[in-house]
Amino acid sequence: MRHYARRVKAIGGYLELQLPSGKEYYPDLIKLNTARNALEYIVKVNQYSLVYVPYYTCEVILEPLKKLGVTFHFYTIDKNLDPIIDFKIAPTECLLYTNYFGIKQTTVNRLSRSIKNLIIDNSQAFFAKPIRGIDTFYSCRKFFGVSDGAYLQTNILLSTKFERDVSVWRVSHLLKSIDLSVEEGYQDYLESRASLSNGAIKRMSKLTERVLKGIDYEECKSIRIRNFKIIHEGLGRYNTLFINLENIDGPMVYPFLINKKIRKKLIDKRIYIATYWPNVLKWTSERMFENYLTEHLVGIPIDHRYNEEDMERILNIVKQMI
Ligand SMILES: Cc1ncc(COP(=O)(O)O)c(C=O)c1O
Repeated sequence: MRHYARRVKAIGGYLELQLPSGKEYYPDLIKLNTARNALEYIVKVNQYSLVYVPYYTCEVILEPLKKLGVTFHFYTIDKNLDPIIDFKIAPTECLLYTNYFGIKQTTVNRLSRSIKNLIIDNSQAFFAKPIRGIDTFYSCRKFFGVSDGAYLQTNILLSTKFERDVSVWRVSHLLKSIDLSVEEGYQDYLESRASLSNGAIKRMSKLTERVLKGIDYEECKSIRIRNFKIIHEGLGRYNTLFINLENIDGPMVYPFLINKKIRKKLIDKRIYIATYWPNVLKWTSERMFENYLTEHLVGIPIDHRYNEEDMERILNIVKQMI
């Protein structure tokens, strides 16, 4: 095929991949390639000298801090996953807090009133709208079938013009999940995820943006809420983590904390439970709550792929294990 200037619209030829064209959930936020790079953007633009990072988070959060040579100190959380702030945050320092599993909006609201330099990591809380004036970022691949993509709300803008990312080389797991099976795409998923490491800040790829424009967000959100409530109804009384249903607005998973190790048994039943987060075991001692959380918290899938029967199946299996 001959290459003409891109500005001339191609007419004819083979038919393109057809995706529904609707509206993104956050059309007005800055669109970047990854959440970790959104954090890099915030830290850079504010010239923070130190970031307080929770022990309980994903290790890729450290990538931008190490890249920028910014100091970080870990802090602990209490049994409600709220930060224990027993340190002073200086004017050039900031606190990074994760809206865990999408159930911590009340804490986010409280922190936004009391902490001056605050960054909210909503990677686990896609549907939690950003609070005006609070630097906030989102990771799209945690909620939808995309390989990357992040939204960012920030008070100050960088003047740099970023190049656009290209996702096509990391989406084979998504195609395999449809044409073959989730299991057959798993290796590709790991490679796709690994390929996000230590990349430059780029704009969201066209492919990711197109997929995000085709999603029925209200439906996804309401299914998540319904499924979360079904699981809570069945397991809430065994859950040692306090859950306030008023805070639930399209959460990521149902966080089930129980003093039993059931994750591996669930995986044997083809119910795949991610560990949040394996790196926490390296960062903490066995006596720390974060260590216990990593070993025992079961993030039960409640997302838009599942119906009420799927939830009942999970409940039956989990109840036999506890
Ligand atoms: C809480 C949390 N924040 C941020 C990230 C980074 O997201 P991304 O892969 O979009 O950089 C992850 C996981 O990768 C995460 O679990």
